[in-house]
Amino acid sequence: MTILVTGGAGYIGSHTVRALVTQGRDVVVLDSLELGHKSRVDNVPFVEGDISDGKIIDKVCRKFDVSEVIHFAAYKAVGESMEQPLRYYNNNVAGTIALVRALMANGVEKIVFSSSAAVYGNPDHVPVTEDAPLRPESVYAETKAMVEKFLASCETIGLRSVSLRYFNAAGASADAAIGEDWSMSQNLVPLVMKALLGFSGPLNVFGNDYQTPDGTCTRDYIHVEDLAAAHIKALELSQRWRQKSGMQCWYWHCHISARSNQHRRTSEWTKGSTHYFQPASGRPSLRVCRPYIGACATWLESKSRFARHYW
Ligand SMILES: NC(=O)c1ccc[n+]([C@@H]2O[C@H](COP(=O)([O-])OP(=O)(O)OC[C@H]3O[C@@H](n4cnc5c(N)ncnc54)[C@H](O)[C@@H]3O)[C@@H](O)[C@H]2O)c1
Repeated sequence: MTILVTGGAGYIGSHTVRALVTQGRDVVVLDSLELGHKSRVDNVPFVEGDISDGKIIDKVCRKFDVSEVIHFAAYKAVGESMEQPLRYYNNNVAGTIALVRALMANGVEKIVFSSSAAVYGNPDHVPVTEDAPLRPESVYAETKAMVEKFLASCETIGLRSVSLRYFNAAGASADAAIGEDWSMSQNLVPLVMKALLGFSGPLNVFGNDYQTPDGTCTRDYIHVEDLAAAHIKALELSQRWRQKSGMQCWYWHCHISARSNQHRRTSEWTKGSTHYFQPASGRPSLRVCRPYIGACATWLESKSRFARHYW
C-alpha cells in the first residue's frame, strides 16, 4: 500500500514526501525533473518520468503496489500560461487525464489533487468559501478548474478525489534542509527575497489604491509544511470515506499580514530600504505588501542556510 506522489521532487511535493516518510508511510515519487530536484527526495523510491506516460504509471503501480495518489505534477506560472496555453493544457489537463486513466486501469481510485485558489478568480467575498463561483482568469487557473471538473466526472466510474484550492505557498522545512528553488521560481516570495538580497533589481510593486494602510495589496500565504500536512489530511479523509466515490473541494488560506510582530519587523526592513521595491504601473501581475515583506524577513532569518544552499 504505497502513496504515489507525482511532482514529488518539486517544492510542495518534496515537503509532503518528507512528512509522509516521517509518518512511516510507504511512498514513491514520480517526477520528470523538468522543474524538480532529485536531491530533495533522496531517501525515497524515485521514478523519473512523465505523468502522461501510461507505461510508466503501469510499472510504478505494479512494482510499488500503489493504492493512492497525491498529484502535484503541473506547470504553475500564471504569466507563462497565458503565453503558452498549449503547453499548459497539455501538461496539466491532458497529462492528468492520462494519469487517471492509467491509475484506474490499475485499480487506484483515490487521488488528492493540488488545485489552486486561482480557480476563484477575483472573488466577490473574502474569505472565499468552497462554493464561491469559479471564475478562472488565466490559462493556469483554467487548467486547474478543468481538472477538478474532470475528477468530479470520474466519480461515476469510482474515483474518489479531494481537490485543495490554496494560494501562495511559502517557506522551507523547519530544519532548512529543503525549500523552494529560487533560481527558477516565479513565485512572489523568491522574487521578494532576491530583491532584498540584491540578487535582482528592485521588485515592482503594482497598485497603490487598495484598502490597506499603505495602499499596496495584501496576500494570503500558507507555510509549505502546513500545506504538506493538509495534503496528508486530505488523503486520510478520502480513506475514511464510506461511499464508493465522491469529490470534495477545500479552500485553505491564512492571512499573515495581521500579525503585529511581523508588522513591526516589516517597518524595520522597509525603512530606508526603498531601493529594494519600486512602485510600478501597468497590468498588475505581481503585487506585494509591506507586512508580507516582514514575513519574508522572518523567513530569511530562520532559513538562511537554505538560501545559501540554493544559491
Ligand atoms: N507553489 C504555490 O504557491 C502553489 C499554489 C497553488 C497550487 N499549487 C500547485 O501545487 C503543485 C505543486 O507546486 P510547486 O510549487 O511544488 O511546483 P514545482 O514546479 O516546484 O513542482 C512541480 C513538480 O512537478 C514536476 N512535473 C511537472 N510536470 C510534470 C509531468 N508532466 N510529469 C511528471 N512531473 C512533472 C516538476 O518537475 C516539478 O518537480 C502544482 O500543481 C501547483 O499548481 C502551487
